[in-house]
Parts: sequence; C-alpha cells; structure tokens
Amino acid sequence: MDTGEDLVDDGNVLPMSRVPQGMSIDASPESHHDRLRNRVVRQNAFGGPEHISIEERTAPDPGPGEALVRVHAAGLNPVDWQIPADPSVAQEFGVSVPGGYGHDLAGVVAAVGSGTSAVQVGDRVLGGARGAAIADFAIVPAGRLTLVPYAVPLNVAATLPIAARTAAAAISLLELTPDDTVLIGGAAGGVGVLAVQFAVRTGATVVATASPANHDFLRSLGAIPVSYRDGLADAVRDLGVTITAATDLQGAETARAALDLGVAAARITTIATEPIPGTIPTGGMDAPAGTIPQVLDDLAVGDVRVQISGEYPIERTAEAVARLREGHVRGKLVITTGAA
Ligand SMILES: NC(=O)c1ccc[n+]([C@@H]2O[C@H](COP(=O)([O-])OP(=O)(O)OC[C@H]3O[C@@H](n4cnc5c(N)ncnc54)[C@H](OP(=O)(O)O)[C@@H]3O)[C@@H](O)[C@H]2O)c1
Repeated sequence: MDTGEDLVDDGNVLPMSRVPQGMSIDASPESHHDRLRNRVVRQNAFGGPEHISIEERTAPDPGPGEALVRVHAAGLNPVDWQIPADPSVAQEFGVSVPGGYGHDLAGVVAAVGSGTSAVQVGDRVLGGARGAAIADFAIVPAGRLTLVPYAVPLNVAATLPIAARTAAAAISLLELTPDDTVLIGGAAGGVGVLAVQFAVRTGATVVATASPANHDFLRSLGAIPVSYRDGLADAVRDLGVTITAATDLQGAETARAALDLGVAAARITTIATEPIPGTIPTGGMDAPAGTIPQVLDDLAVGDVRVQISGEYPIERTAEAVARLREGHVRGKLVITTGAA
C-alpha cells in the first residue's frame, strides 16, 4: 500500500510537493527496464469487467504542454464502468472501446513535453486522464494537474478529482447556512462521504441516507442517518426535523422525498438522474474554483477525510470494478501500481 511517505526526509514531512534536488525520478534506483514497463488496463469490448485485460506497452512520450505521470494510484468512479457499458455514454465522454480505462490518478511527474512549465519532473500530482489513468504511466495536460502536498498520501489524492469536485458542486449550490437542515441521498458513496463533510462544515444540520450498515459511519461524519426505502419522506418526518434543502447523489428518490417534504425545487441538487423540473442538475463542472487544492489542504490538516474501502493491485482491476458496480462501496476503491 502506498503510504505517501516514500519521500519523507529523515522523518520530517517535506512542506512542498516537489522532490528535492537529487531525489528526482531520473535519479531514483528504479531500473531503466522498470521505468519503461507500462502495464495498461484495457476494456476490449462493450460490456462489463469481464472484458477488462491488462497489456504491457512502453511508456508514451509527452507532447508539448503534456506531462508523463508515473501513476501510483488510480481512484475508481462509477462512470469508469458506465462508459464501456453503453456505447452512447462512451460517445458522450469521447472514449473509444476497445481502449484504456479510468480517469482519476495520482502519481509523480516522470517527464514533461516541450514548453511545459506548470509542473516539473518529480512533482507529486493528481489529475484526470479519461480512458487512460489505470496504467503505470499516463499522459495528462500539465496545466490540468494539481500539486499534492506531502502530508496527503497519493492513494488518498487519487480519490479526489471527480468525487471532490462533484460533492463541492452539489453542496455549494445549496448555499447552506446554520439555519438549514439538508437531506443528502446516497451519502455513503464516493461523492457522499465528502458531500456530508462539506455540508456539516457549513453549520447546517445534515440528514443522510444509507443502508443501516453505514449508519454508524455516517454518524462519525456528523450526520443523522436515515435508511433509504419506500417512505423516505415519512422516515424523515419521524426524525422530527424540517428539511430545507437536499442533494440527491443516487437517482431521484431523495429529490422526490424532499419535494414531498415541501423543500423548494430550487434548493435541490441532483447528480445522477434525469432532470426533475425546477431542481438543479449539477456535476464537477460546477465546482467552485480552487476546490481540489482546498480539499488537499483540508486533508493535510485533518479537517476532511476520505474513506478507502479497498485497494487493488492493477492486475485485479476487473475485480475492483465488479465490486464497484454492485453499488454498495463505502467511500472509494483505489487501484495501485506498486510504484514507490
Ligand atoms: N454528475 C456528475 O458529474 C457525477 C459525478 C460523480 C458521480 N456521479 C454519479 O453519481 C452517483 C454516485 O456516485 P458515487 O461515486 O458516490 O457512487 P458510489 O461510490 O458507487 O456509491 C455507492 C454508495 O451508494 C449507496 N447507495 C446505493 N444505492 C442507494 C440508494 N438507492 N439510495 C441511497 N444510497 C444508495 C451505497 O450505500 P449503501 O451500501 O448503504 O446502500 C454506497 O455507499 C453515480 O451514479 C455516479 O455515476 C455523477
């Protein structure tokens, strides 16, 4: 497991994300052969993880403005399996099948293309490479990478690109205040774990849906748990709270319950359903500027936490995807390459 402490100097956590002189990737003891070895996870046909395989290739060269990232960890998101499951979704995301896999990644810059100044070799970074993240090496536009502080392990950083931005969008658009009581549906998932924490930090009261097995976990994040099921609105009424805003992170059940409870449609955000008239569909594109650096800072000082419920070596990506697809992972699953 990547502890993120591989570049800790004499026990002191280095304050910056940059590798000190003499510790760059090029100077590491890693052999030339290992540096070029590039295991790439591929989806060979439309369908599920039964079509996932792993191939060995050589690491690509970064073009102008690009960085080659030595991937340490790649975070999984539902969209990773939703894309190859449906040709129309693949087209929407511009992904080819057969093709590569994943999006979220964190690692260390191994090389940069010409004219690239946003990052340098040795930087610890996170970012996104659609259809290419689950590999030993990935090419990412350098300007779209974010430096990761040493206090944040790379496996943790790899969970952030999609989930943190989506959670930030879903909560910030509600403009919560301490007078609010917000209902969060799908609160135990990758997006939900962060959304609950962002909502709690506004001072609002947070009521969050999950199956009973996740209720203690949601309490530990500061939320009042409630089971999702038929009659969610009644279950919320039984809590004796007055819901004033809601975000639905799993389908439309929570959004509909919130409407039933009298919440104004304009105070309901959704991320995973057909638009419901008057409510606010949203996603990572609506995240406030600076969301990822802010969450990294919060993680570094322990103001926010992520939940990693499984780490799988790259060879077991299909197994991890199959588990994610069942829809009941608490927090996130991460693929690791063994890079040190
Ligand atoms: N619009 C966007 O930009 C955007 C971005 C990210 C994600 N999404 C979408 O948003 C959804 C959530 O993403 P995610 O990453 O959080 O997914 P996820 O991590 O796979 O969510 C798993 C969680 O969902 C909970 N869950 C399953 N069925 C539920 C239900 N009927 N009601 C409430 N909770 C339920 C499970 O809790 P229990 O085990 O307790 O049931 C589990 O903890 C996905 O459909 C994803 O594709 C959209």
